[in-house]
Amino acid sequence: MKRVYLDNGSTSFPKAPGVSDAVKNFMDNVGTNVNRGGYEEAYAAEDIIIETREKLCKLFHFDKLRNVIFTPSITYSLNYIIKGYLRPGDHVLVSSMEHNAMMRPLQQVKQLGVEFDRIPCTRDGELMVDKIEEMIRPNTKAIMMLHASNVCGTVMPLQEVGDICHKHNLKFIVDAAQTAGSFPINIEQMHIDVLAFTGHKSLLGPQGIGGFLVSDEVAHEMIPLVTGGTGSVSDSEFQPEFMPDKFESGTQNIPGIYGLRAALCYLEETGIENIHAHEMELCKAFIEKIDALQNEKIRLVGVRDMNKRGPVVSFDFIGEDNAEVSFKLDSEYGISTRCGMHCAPNAHKTLETYPQGTVRFAFGFKNTMEDVDYAVQAIQKILQK
Ligand SMILES: Cc1ncc(COP(=O)(O)O)c(C=O)c1O
Repeated sequence: MKRVYLDNGSTSFPKAPGVSDAVKNFMDNVGTNVNRGGYEEAYAAEDIIIETREKLCKLFHFDKLRNVIFTPSITYSLNYIIKGYLRPGDHVLVSSMEHNAMMRPLQQVKQLGVEFDRIPCTRDGELMVDKIEEMIRPNTKAIMMLHASNVCGTVMPLQEVGDICHKHNLKFIVDAAQTAGSFPINIEQMHIDVLAFTGHKSLLGPQGIGGFLVSDEVAHEMIPLVTGGTGSVSDSEFQPEFMPDKFESGTQNIPGIYGLRAALCYLEETGIENIHAHEMELCKAFIEKIDALQNEKIRLVGVRDMNKRGPVVSFDFIGEDNAEVSFKLDSEYGISTRCGMHCAPNAHKTLETYPQGTVRFAFGFKNTMEDVDYAVQAIQKILQK
């Protein structure tokens, strides 16, 4: 059976050309640790790591190379930030569309006295920006939010929120899981204090590598959640205060960094604006073709305006079991989608798709218009049965 992968919101597949070769090259030909060995291969690996930090700085318009921190994924990054930066008595604002990578650590620190409120979003997942200022309290420390919803693709207005943070002296912490590598993000211009990313989605790198880019001020106030060997100041039992060592203890995922570097090279060569344009063309055609079916059973969840969304498209198949639709897409047509809550229960409450969830189709750089047509036909046939 033909296979069409439309679960790029979960993880991109395939990865960028060159990623698997880079990982293999490290495993077969380099293989060393860094910061720990005074020999050529270790220096070569160190260079690759520095180059990867440089590429991330360039991509996100950030000028503090040492403040690019690697972690296993954005889930770890958000845990480091939430648990290392927030203190009892602090208050933060989040959107009502957050992923559990944000909400579960926040619910955990709530038990310790950190408070949060959710900025409401519309039934399409659009942030009600005009509500923000009235929600700011004297103890509000930060606004934390995702850039684009992993449920319906709606994009948050980062510049507007960043301007509000700047005006009120709040830190701005962004979960760029769904956008890093396919949307322009300008840390400086958007007043972002911490940008968290994961390597395996639109950055097109391997699983197991992510990180965050952090301002000096936040880095200084953050307590490192994980401490240990860094290969530096090894005569001391105390964690170094300097960056990136403060937050990078233990052996790094060096094969992952090699893979991520290769992915970043590909993104630079191709241009993220071209990847974005391609994915959005598919997204637009998909929505238009589903609309043309004029089937009342299909409700598009999220905004229609292509300037306010990404290529993650969710449908609620009214009167159908969404899980069954997703199952049939896979078993009868070879189309991989993701159904259910997408780790974002409150997003589904906002979108009025709780508890039935949605079926999510997420386009990636290698999908084609043929894939779009195939998915539309499959949906049509499933609904006719
Ligand atoms: C918006 C958002 N944040 C965080 C995550 C968690 O990503 P990871 O599993 O790579 O840590 C995801 C993954 O789906 C996501 O979509």
